[in-house]
Amino acid sequence: MSTLSYIEANRERFLEELFEILRIPSISADSSYSAEVRKCAEKVAEFIKSAGADHVELEETAGYPIVYAEKIIDPNLPTVLVYGHYDVQPSVPNELWHTPPFEPTIRDGKIYARGACDDKGQAFMHVKAFETMMQTNSLACNIKFMIEGEEEVGSSNLGTYCRNNKEKLKADVILISDTSMIANDIPSIDVGLRGLSYVEVEVTGPNIDLHSGVYGGAVANPINVLCQMIASMHDENRHITIPGFYEDVLEVSAADRDALAKVPFDINEYKKHLDIEDVMGEAGFSTIERTGIRPTLDVNGIWGGYIGEGAKTVLPSKAYAKISMRLVPNQTSDKITEIFQKHFESIAPKGVKVKVTPHHGGEPVVTPTDSVPFKAAAKAMFDTFGKEPIPSRGGGSIPIVALFEKELQTKTVLMGFGLDSDAIHSPNEHYGVFNYFKGIETIPRFFHHFAELNK
Ligand code: BES
Ligand code: MN
Ligand code: MN
Repeated sequence: MSTLSYIEANRERFLEELFEILRIPSISADSSYSAEVRKCAEKVAEFIKSAGADHVELEETAGYPIVYAEKIIDPNLPTVLVYGHYDVQPSVPNELWHTPPFEPTIRDGKIYARGACDDKGQAFMHVKAFETMMQTNSLACNIKFMIEGEEEVGSSNLGTYCRNNKEKLKADVILISDTSMIANDIPSIDVGLRGLSYVEVEVTGPNIDLHSGVYGGAVANPINVLCQMIASMHDENRHITIPGFYEDVLEVSAADRDALAKVPFDINEYKKHLDIEDVMGEAGFSTIERTGIRPTLDVNGIWGGYIGEGAKTVLPSKAYAKISMRLVPNQTSDKITEIFQKHFESIAPKGVKVKVTPHHGGEPVVTPTDSVPFKAAAKAMFDTFGKEPIPSRGGGSIPIVALFEKELQTKTVLMGFGLDSDAIHSPNEHYGVFNYFKGIETIPRFFHHFAELNK
């Protein structure tokens, strides 16, 4: 039986099994879901086992377990290590979902559920592609699976795991589906990801909340001060004002910028989709460049003072914000975090105290387009889309990609099948049924071409 007819014959089951995974609320950020996260790991392991893997293990870490599995068919064949994550982002605000986040539903050809695209839907394509290759006797490479449960909270235990299991994780390439393509009829492969430096700041004014009339105007209001400090970190051209912030930014060559300018992109569609009158970003760069090759500083959350019903006149003692900085080659998260902290402390007026707490970080990556893994992925996508995929840059971060390179000296290929409009991390996250099956069809083609190109 051909892989295509096997997939066709098992369509309904492939969807139903993904739904089983999607029904488990494996929210890694919220410890009240820890039993569910573990249950999800077990379920993923079961599916990989029944697909035909030989060793399937739940590897314990200081956090959530890593699902490891392998099928070694011939030590002389190349080995593909598939990475993905079974944890998901919190689903809140739940009231904005049209159907409940953990009750997967198909509407207009899209699967709606938290994790439908990021990354359960995309990781599960590999399990089903593996099953398909096993059942049709077409597995052309050895395969290893490493599906983790802490990606959405910074993969803090994965570095240690990789360092301690170098031999076991040995592979010729790491294959990841956790990114997006330009459009369903414009296949693309991400050849870059941004890094991340994430910090939380606390600004303290007076030692207690005060009456905003009795004291207002005389002492620092930490919320006013925090807003001013945040606003001052961009200038009128929306360049970031932190001294040294751009110091290590690698200039992108004119040729690379020309290539980016040729990437099909409809600014009007983009604005329409987001219901905005105009885009906004760093002067001198296009929208694609602003998310692909330029670093950013964004407030992800800000709070303090009275936010209950009605008006309470209060001058708060404290204000807080969570700030992310997306990084590009050759910036490093430790250095950026450090200069952010120094700068933030230096601009604080005397009337407040500030505290900066670093959260997780991650390093940016660029992957080559002239490598065997990229070529194999491009050929695979050409086979199933009938079009040459365009190399593009993803704005998000997958910190383990740089880590794999460092710890395992192994290159990654980012063959993602999502769309930027899939609302990952947002209410009503979804994944196209088309995309799910396109992935399941394309992955065996990757294995085929990777084996051929390695001959
Ligand atoms: N899959 C995303 C990253 C992504 C999405 C890359 C789309 C490129 C295109 C991943 O799960 C993610 O959300 N990563 C986090 C970083 C992590 C340290 C919390 C991110 O980018 O915010
Ligand atoms: Mn992801
Ligand atoms: Mn994510």
